[in-house]
Amino acid sequence: MTKNIKQDGIVFSEKEIAQIMIHFSKDKIEKLIKHKDEIRILEPSVGDGSLIVELISYLPSNINLNIDCLDIHQDFLKNTKNNIGLRNNVNINLINVDYLNYNPLHSYDIIISNPPYVRTSIIGAEKSQFLKKEYGLSGKVDLYHAFFIKMINELSTNGIISIITSNKYLYNKSGKKLREHIIKNLSLEYLLDLGDTKLFEASVLPSILIGEKNNIKKNRNKFISIYENHNDKSNKNVLPFKSIYEFLSSSEENHFIYNDKIFDVKRGNICLETNDILLLESDDKFFVDKVQNNSTLILKDLAYVKVGIKTTADKVFIHPLGFSDVEPELIHNIIISKSIQKWKVNRQKQKTIIYPYNFSIDKKEVINIDEYPKCKNFFYQNEEILKKRTYVMESSKEWFEIWVSHTPKTWKSKKLVLKDISSHGIFAYDDGSVVNGDSFFIVLKEDIDEDYLFYLLGILNSKLMYKYHQIMFPNKLYSNKNRFNSQYVEKYPIPEINTPLSKEIIKNVKKLIFEDVNVAHYEEVINNLCNELYGFNS
Ligand SMILES: C[S@@+](CC[C@H](N)C(=O)[O-])C[C@H]1O[C@@H](n2cnc3c(N)ncnc32)[C@H](O)[C@@H]1O
Repeated sequence: MTKNIKQDGIVFSEKEIAQIMIHFSKDKIEKLIKHKDEIRILEPSVGDGSLIVELISYLPSNINLNIDCLDIHQDFLKNTKNNIGLRNNVNINLINVDYLNYNPLHSYDIIISNPPYVRTSIIGAEKSQFLKKEYGLSGKVDLYHAFFIKMINELSTNGIISIITSNKYLYNKSGKKLREHIIKNLSLEYLLDLGDTKLFEASVLPSILIGEKNNIKKNRNKFISIYENHNDKSNKNVLPFKSIYEFLSSSEENHFIYNDKIFDVKRGNICLETNDILLLESDDKFFVDKVQNNSTLILKDLAYVKVGIKTTADKVFIHPLGFSDVEPELIHNIIISKSIQKWKVNRQKQKTIIYPYNFSIDKKEVINIDEYPKCKNFFYQNEEILKKRTYVMESSKEWFEIWVSHTPKTWKSKKLVLKDISSHGIFAYDDGSVVNGDSFFIVLKEDIDEDYLFYLLGILNSKLMYKYHQIMFPNKLYSNKNRFNSQYVEKYPIPEINTPLSKEIIKNVKKLIFEDVNVAHYEEVINNLCNELYGFNS
């Protein structure tokens, strides 16, 4: 079979990764092998065998090991065989197969794996549909999601899995079903979120999970997360280590230096909810509990958080300076990510859009192009680009329509806008503009008092809510920025609105937005009020 590095997710583990995976499984493995004279082991995508070699060398030589090593590529299996060599009491079965088509004859006591990571866009629509159905997954599936679920299913009762994957499934929407499956079937021993330690060459932020198959849910399970400290460059009292493994196996410090960079280490407990796996330090747990206990709602109860429009031909529809040759009633301001600042939109940085819908009514009604000769002319000048979007016509839209347009009512209403990616939460108030697809917007549900919008804005821009976001949704992008999209923001806890404190917040937010006041001063006032609102000292 010919190899495709991307399609087959071929990235081999360094010895160090294997060492970490085994170091944190040791206690469980020792318990498991105590009363056994034979252990059945699976490595479902073995590559050149670095994980299995390390595991064999750790296990005592008086136990019989029956090991199934699988790989879709035959020649990798030959390398594995050479790398393992001959050992007493070790029976290796090298099986050249696609793991997802493999039917094992028995379950396994230990599964160790670094499965292939292959995103939906590379797997292709057909295969990802199949995987979703077969493994009960949803959203943008990755091949490793299917591997993970199958491995859990093939583990014996009290069997142990040690697996390294991208950390994305811990936090994102498409990891939800996998998280549910993990929570239902495994008791988690350790979770290591190795963030931007760059243990993988690939731009994947790795995490290691060690679990035992049973449904004893302990609340003592531990997590360790390691992220580079990009802010504090003073390295007094911080010890250097030669490797992440050396640090993890010998130190309980909260910071260390590796490769001339300072890393922060968090340790705490894993908290399990129906489909969430939360990694909370004890101080964080106290903070999160307090925020949640002082709230009666989550943001989703009050408002919708949605992504902006997608024209799929921005070159034609969106322009920084306006369109002098198109009827003005079709031209509207559009907020783009760059124009969103805390509290208010920077009007100088926003752009303009041709929005070919009747803006004088609320629901979406495409214009009769013959009534707008200048616009018609402009669209015909760009006919080729617009008609390349065959999916637009196939979905019974006019060829000059916007692919995801929302309704004029949405754009005319008062709303909040937010940047999808930023180094801290940035939310602004808007009244009347369209919002581009690189940003999100928040509109109140029917019958919700308009003051809630100002109340929410104060809370969303507060230091307290940013701290909550960082604890609950800690995954960072490589740029060290956070994502602020609907799946996270919808879950923010919100306290009762009819209190003197909330009224004060609303009053101060309105001043900040509508009057020319000292922003820093009002921000501090709002931050203090939000602290009090959630039960902390201002
Ligand atoms: C991320 S690498 C990991 C290799 C090895 N476990 C390690 O840690 O070094 C993924 C491996 O999965 C293999 N692979 C890809 N798709 C597979 C499939 N469907 N079934 C079995 N192996 C597969 C690739 O050939 C590659 O060796």
